[in-house]
Amino acid sequence: MTIHDGALDHLDIDEILAWVGHEASKHKGEGKVADYIPALKRVAKKKFGMAVCTIQGDEYLFGDAEELFSIQSISKVLTLAMALGHVDTRLWKRVGREPSGSTFNSLIQLERENGIPRNPFINAGALVVTDVVAQYNERPKTDLIQWARTLSGNKKIKYDLEVAKSESETGHRNRAIAYFLKTHGNFKGDVEEVLDVYFHQCSIAMSCLDLARAFLPMANKGRLPGLSKSLMPPRRVKRINSLMMTSGVYDGAGDFAFHVGMPCKSGVGGGIAGVIPGVLSMCVWAPELDKIGNSLVGTKALELFTTKTQLSVF
Ligand code: DON
Repeated sequence: MTIHDGALDHLDIDEILAWVGHEASKHKGEGKVADYIPALKRVAKKKFGMAVCTIQGDEYLFGDAEELFSIQSISKVLTLAMALGHVDTRLWKRVGREPSGSTFNSLIQLERENGIPRNPFINAGALVVTDVVAQYNERPKTDLIQWARTLSGNKKIKYDLEVAKSESETGHRNRAIAYFLKTHGNFKGDVEEVLDVYFHQCSIAMSCLDLARAFLPMANKGRLPGLSKSLMPPRRVKRINSLMMTSGVYDGAGDFAFHVGMPCKSGVGGGIAGVIPGVLSMCVWAPELDKIGNSLVGTKALELFTTKTQLSVF
């Protein structure tokens, strides 16, 4: 029994996704594919997929829902869950929990705030999180990909090595952030080793279906349907969801909460994954981004979905 028991009754999710897909597609061409990482430019920009997983175990797909894309910053949710598993509340001595109100890779705020990143989803905060993962996992890259496979139930999930290489070759700003954190004593590991993990985590290739499945524990108090073992405690799920709500889409968080009303995490690969706790998880993917760096068609689709279904956290 959940607070939303029966929330999906009388809803034809397939029909709703088809309608959302049709309406949101009208906005194709209004955004711009991320081009600051050369390997991301090669994506076919008109792709559009959606996947919904319910806590009852039903799945609904639309369009390119099973096509692989670069999950980019959505990976920050996976590493945050791992890091909290290692250090729990001690993480908050090193990273804040407030929206940043500035771009995801800003250095100015970090300098002003003495090397304590505003939240775990801007790059500075995510680098501290990956530093924790690298410190506590003997084989961080192997363990991280295994975690993505466990959450999604897909053993085939891999790093896209071309994207990881391209990230590394162009990741000068991330290097600057990491070294800056180090001068403040907020970075324990070797900068290049931790960045190698970070560049790989951004390169993980997953589909909308993989990500919707991977986010289902965040809609279901830490459990995957049919799996007796909990993957994370409900308290951790509550923390991650609240951080997605306030910081998951960067300086677009307020507007996103207003229009979509769902805790989500976006990535510059054009994916957005989110949850309606007690009901469902979902992921949309359309590579063209808005000015903030969130998928433009994907954001429209999520807004249409929460409006049509009247399902949101508000
Ligand atoms: O750190 C970077 O530049 C990227 N690899 C990750 C950025 C990202 O997805 C931020 N997103 N919205």
